[in-house]
Amino acid sequence: MLKTTNNSILKNRIAPICFVGVLLFTSCKKDKAADGIDKELFDLAKATTGFVWYKNSDTLLEKSAGSSHAEPFLKTRYNTLAATQLDSMGKVKSDAVFPEGSLVVKELFDNATTIGRYAVLYKKAASESADANGWVWGYINSDGTVAESATKKGSSCINCHSQSNNIEYTLMNKYFP
Ligand code: HEC
Repeated sequence: MLKTTNNSILKNRIAPICFVGVLLFTSCKKDKAADGIDKELFDLAKATTGFVWYKNSDTLLEKSAGSSHAEPFLKTRYNTLAATQLDSMGKVKSDAVFPEGSLVVKELFDNATTIGRYAVLYKKAASESADANGWVWGYINSDGTVAESATKKGSSCINCHSQSNNIEYTLMNKYFP
């Protein structure tokens, strides 16, 4: 009798501990520190000089209805090479073909001041992680952990970014005309 009681006390204590342990383990596993191509994209995304903002404005935009991202605000910038495909209003030209080396960084904000994550499009056809069109898809948390590795070649991104009225897989023009 005493034995049974002890056992059930033990079970009640241990089960929750194991559960928390499993949660910690899986979350650590999911968001590990960026290395390789993800680290490269993180460093490229964090640099801020030489970029042009979408519509020439760094005002935070409220996420569009088409966005699957959790963060409520965003703003998007283009490095010098990518900016060659913007018109004078700072919108992507309708016939844009982004040259090799183009970098498009969408900063995703948790609130008005804090960047939670970077979503990145990097034209680098030579990369092992490039998709069939030469784009590398990066998704990195602002603490340097990986939300979705670029080695997956945008497998969770491309479908949505291939929707009607994309411009070379970019969607800013469609949702922020
Ligand atoms: C369900 C649709 C959807 C999915 C999935 C998605 N995106 Fe997006 N993405 C958007 C929309 C819509 C925009 C336009 C801005 C906004 O509303 O967030 C956008 C904008 C972007 C931009 C800014 C450049 C532009 O004009 O498109 C980048 C970079 C980007 N996404 C990267 C990614 C990456 C990397 C993934 C996968 C890890 C991804 N997206 C998955 C819908 C999606």
